[in-house]
Amino acid sequence: MQEVTDVKKPGGAPRRGALSIREVTKIYDPEGVNVMAVDNCSMEVAPGEFCMIVGPSGCGKTTLLNAIAGFHSTTTGEIRLDGELLCGPGKPMAEQGADRIVVFQQGALFPWKTLAENVAYGPMVQGVISKKGALEKAREMLAEAGLGEFGDKYPGEVSSGMARRAEIVRALINNPRVLLLDEPYRAMDALTKAIMHQALLEMYDRTKVTMFFITHDLEEAIFLGDRVYVLTTRPCRLKKVVDVKIARPRNYEVLTSEQFRLLVEETKDAVYEEAIKAFQSGERELA
Ligand SMILES: Nc1ncnc2c1ncn2[C@@H]1O[C@H](COP(=O)(O)OP(=O)(O)OP(=O)(O)O)[C@@H](O)[C@H]1O
Ligand SMILES: [Mg+2]
Repeated sequence: MQEVTDVKKPGGAPRRGALSIREVTKIYDPEGVNVMAVDNCSMEVAPGEFCMIVGPSGCGKTTLLNAIAGFHSTTTGEIRLDGELLCGPGKPMAEQGADRIVVFQQGALFPWKTLAENVAYGPMVQGVISKKGALEKAREMLAEAGLGEFGDKYPGEVSSGMARRAEIVRALINNPRVLLLDEPYRAMDALTKAIMHQALLEMYDRTKVTMFFITHDLEEAIFLGDRVYVLTTRPCRLKKVVDVKIARPRNYEVLTSEQFRLLVEETKDAVYEEAIKAFQSGERELA
């Protein structure tokens, strides 16, 4: 049984959420036409790391995330979470589980449930806690995320930013080992995005859950991440890791610092080098 009350881990080094991607290759085979999306890609994400994934459009980022989530198989290589084999030789596809929760670009709250009911849903259906206990925990966690007054509202009655914050809370109540986020804030205006960043950083600072966060926004990557993994053009491999040694907790003052600017430049150089290759080989968007 999963321990729902173990969500907060204040202080100390996180002990869980180590993600190993080792020599993973993924070849899609739509109607007999091979499309190699990932080629011998390896990366090691430390427990509790805020890991950002960037790379040219179509390079294979979502393919990697889907393999970790158990949405599709890998062709060769292995993926481990805290040493446990998710997929690899003899097990081409990971099982889906509440230890890896995906946050998509499009919101995914149930519109017919209140925010509290949405957040409580996971533990309730897993039967790890009573309905009353799950709702209490949901309200507590919504309050921590600044949404205490909105637990009884339906998603359609709150702003999209609030709904997206509630969605992260809904993921965290399951006490995942890793959150998998695929460009969750891509379509947002700058101000809403800034509010989302601050809320996500606060939730991360409280929980230290491992983040596997895909983005095209290099400032977002540096502002949020501990490390930025730059992938090559398709089929992707790891090109470069940028260490972001900016102290936490972070706030928006960081954005105007020389250290921040230099890290963005370093990342941009690496991504653009690959994006140009992608463009020359016929991919449409640059990054
Ligand atoms: N189900 C599929 N069948 C065949 N090819 C696919 C499939 N899914 C993805 N691809 C191809 O694999 C490559 C990588 O796709 P993927 O979606 O992983 O890239 P991405 O880096 O997430 O792109 P973006 O930045 O646009 O989100 C692309 O060429 C894509 O067309
Ligand atoms: Mg993608």
